[in-house]
Amino acid sequence: MSMMEKTPQVARLYEDHSSVQYELGQDLIASHLRPFPGQTVLDLGCGTGRLARKIGSVVAKQGRVLGVDPNTERIAVATEEERRCSESHQRNLTFIPGLVHDAVQHGPFDAVFSNFALHWVPKDDTDASVSSIVKCLKPGGRLCANLTHDSGACANDLSLVTTGQTEESVTGMDFRSLQYWTDKFTAAGLQIEYALQDDNTTMNFPSVREYFDFVKAYTEGAVDYQKLNARELSDFMGNHSLGSLESKFVYILSVLTIVASKPEDR
Ligand SMILES: C[S@@+](CC[C@H](N)C(=O)[O-])C[C@H]1O[C@@H](n2cnc3c(N)ncnc32)[C@H](O)[C@@H]1O
Repeated sequence: MSMMEKTPQVARLYEDHSSVQYELGQDLIASHLRPFPGQTVLDLGCGTGRLARKIGSVVAKQGRVLGVDPNTERIAVATEEERRCSESHQRNLTFIPGLVHDAVQHGPFDAVFSNFALHWVPKDDTDASVSSIVKCLKPGGRLCANLTHDSGACANDLSLVTTGQTEESVTGMDFRSLQYWTDKFTAAGLQIEYALQDDNTTMNFPSVREYFDFVKAYTEGAVDYQKLNARELSDFMGNHSLGSLESKFVYILSVLTIVASKPEDR
């Protein structure tokens, strides 16, 4: 089995090959988070910080964004990119390594934003994480989250070919239902404003190679197509009726979108 590699190279690969996920995060920002100048936002599981930078540019210098992620290499890339990209030197963005529990002392925030991170929270830390999310919110504050319910046959197929195990068992991701999450948030005192399961979310990759790089990056190197031999590669391509590594590739996954608010009197 391949091991997860939390290296600067794999973190950089994520920054360079996560555009499809970034686009879904941008949709969540535009449709539900709808930030405005002066707001404070926590980006939970911020990865290399692309979406946090996007939110930071809207909340502007009177606002503030904190990005938190347990992967220290991704936080290093986020911090480096923020310094490089912040032409106006607004410096309204901070990145810290850690979990949501570590963000509580920096709050409360107007919103907690989280794009494809909650399915990484281990089951035995879910109740504590949900409780920390609630503590991070101001009364009236909102949680806006995208998460994966099932990352699709293609990803699992690639994991099976490369490691002989399912993607879930290789990476430690823990997929749970929409009902599971809405029940958890409701029990912790949030009001569900919006909850949707879309089993046909498409990610359009310009090539199979880009898809493979994305999988390698988000599984932190655990699922690595470069370790495939010629027969395994041809089996994978054949199963998906693909001609070459340069063929366009559409990846279909199930996405849960949840928006929940903290009552004003809490
Ligand atoms: C698929 S990436 C998404 C990154 C970023 N939000 C984006 O959209 O590009 C998932 C992130 O969740 C982080 N993560 C893993 N376990 C976590 C946890 N318990 N709490 C919060 N984030 C976690 C990972 O380190 C990873 O960077």
